[in-house]
Amino acid sequence: MTDSNEPKGLKKGLTNYGDIDFSLFLRKAFIKGAGYTDDALSRHVVGIINTGSDFNPCHGNAPQLVEAVKRGVMLSGGIPFEFPTISVHESFAHPTSMYLRNLMAIDTEEMIRAQPMDAVVLIGGCDKTVPAQLMGAISAGIPAIQLVTGSMLTGSNRGERVGACTDCRRFWASFRGEEIDAQEIAAVNNQLVASVGTCSVMGTASTMACIAEALGIMLPGGASPPAVTADRIRIAERTGAQAIAMIEQRLTPDRILTAKSVENALRVLLAIGGSTNAIIHLTAIAGRMGIAIDLAQFDRMSEETPVLVNLKPSGDHYMEDFHRAGGLVTVLRELRTMLHLDALTVTGRTLGEEIDAAGPGFPQEVVRGVDNPVYAHGGIAVLRGNIAPGGAIIKRSAASLALMEHEGRAVVFEDMADLAARIDDEALEVAADDVLVLKQLGPVGAPGMPEAGYIPIPKKLGRIGVKDMVRISDGRISGTAGGTVIVHVTPETAIGGPLRLVRTGDRIRLSVAARTLSVLLSDDELAARAAETKPAAPSPQERGYRKLFLRSVTQADQGCDFDFLRAVSITDTVPKSRS
Ligand code: FES
Repeated sequence: MTDSNEPKGLKKGLTNYGDIDFSLFLRKAFIKGAGYTDDALSRHVVGIINTGSDFNPCHGNAPQLVEAVKRGVMLSGGIPFEFPTISVHESFAHPTSMYLRNLMAIDTEEMIRAQPMDAVVLIGGCDKTVPAQLMGAISAGIPAIQLVTGSMLTGSNRGERVGACTDCRRFWASFRGEEIDAQEIAAVNNQLVASVGTCSVMGTASTMACIAEALGIMLPGGASPPAVTADRIRIAERTGAQAIAMIEQRLTPDRILTAKSVENALRVLLAIGGSTNAIIHLTAIAGRMGIAIDLAQFDRMSEETPVLVNLKPSGDHYMEDFHRAGGLVTVLRELRTMLHLDALTVTGRTLGEEIDAAGPGFPQEVVRGVDNPVYAHGGIAVLRGNIAPGGAIIKRSAASLALMEHEGRAVVFEDMADLAARIDDEALEVAADDVLVLKQLGPVGAPGMPEAGYIPIPKKLGRIGVKDMVRISDGRISGTAGGTVIVHVTPETAIGGPLRLVRTGDRIRLSVAARTLSVLLSDDELAARAAETKPAAPSPQERGYRKLFLRSVTQADQGCDFDFLRAVSITDTVPKSRS
């Protein structure tokens, strides 16, 4: 219950004029200019973060969601205040959305702190927005509940169902391989995004929505309703009502986001065949609470957690099918014995109680049972070796089986400009069993760790039918992409990581079974090369946010959060060892 002595509603966080009664008098005078009564202004205040933006079609339904959340707040006796923060869309963020995630987290945290609200509804959706909002809300510390905009609908190209963005990449690869012509690729462009909402596959946005529900920071059933459905609007109304209940119960993020809930989220990430980006985001979210993620134990968890969700890019279906199959609770029911059922959720009930309340499942073809999984092991594996001493990630559920154990000759690109200049050069010496290596793609190097780890297949190989190659970088890969792509190589090349020492012609060996990724060079040779090439220091000319970013961003294994935003000390580590 709330402490009756604590300031609430408009009395919270008064602007400092040296006279708190005058501060409240002035605040009320101004807000009354918008027509509010004293009765309205005496209620619990729920802030609603509206990340609607003409540059963000993934949030194109934000106005309807805000209206529904407001309805829920008022039906429960509170008063809603909508306010904007930064909105970040994947395709409208230069240099990358990841570069801006921490800025959005700072904006979210500081505007929650700055304005008087007793609880906050976070409306996000597109990839970086949900982690940014959760990171900010954790640090702000008031009751917070996540709402997502929901997935887009699928379209149709010549009778074939298509959706962003697994099919974006598949069709573009076909166009590069000259399998389809300019007319067809233009027609596909009209069909990939059939409505507002987030990408229609198990990409990063869908993964983060499922993770938010698994963490308990979203209403049960909140992850899967598509953006344009009545179910999505109803979830929004209920989210507004729940925000009021959370004020009464003092359900602050630290009570919900615990080591147990983070472990549940990691389990769900593996079972849904979720995006590799979610590891970075969950690391950042957990880091705000002083919880570290142990990649070695996560890899152990991956071995014992099957992929159950048959969605692209690991499987066949789309998010709207996942919703019709019952949504995330269908997965949670299957994972029940592997979850911490006593983890608290925004409803004030435990995850186990919510699974029970959802009732029994029903026959469907999208979520498999643990005895008949899509993939016997978790979707993600953690690799280590002399070019990735801090770890690297592969989404093995979306990789080629034939390339999981592979040795090949490195073809190295020094940065994205070098890649763009040479990848389609007919004179490039490259064969299908070579290993493509791209440097300078990390948090500092690019900067902002772009999703360019999905290095395109050289055109001359695409033309002869090569669909996949082993590709290695210190960048990221879109959650919607597939292929034998190794990303998050840590430490990154720009700060001296040993991947920078690899040269064209070196031999690289990948063994997913052994979890290794190495260049076949002696330690002496690597030391000699390291002595020859020092990483470049950041330019002293940098200014503004870029300067802050380059100075403060951490590596992938710490979530790429800013060092000064993580918890002061790490007090827990997950997943727990079974020994
Ligand atoms: Fe927004 Fe994919 S671009 S979710």
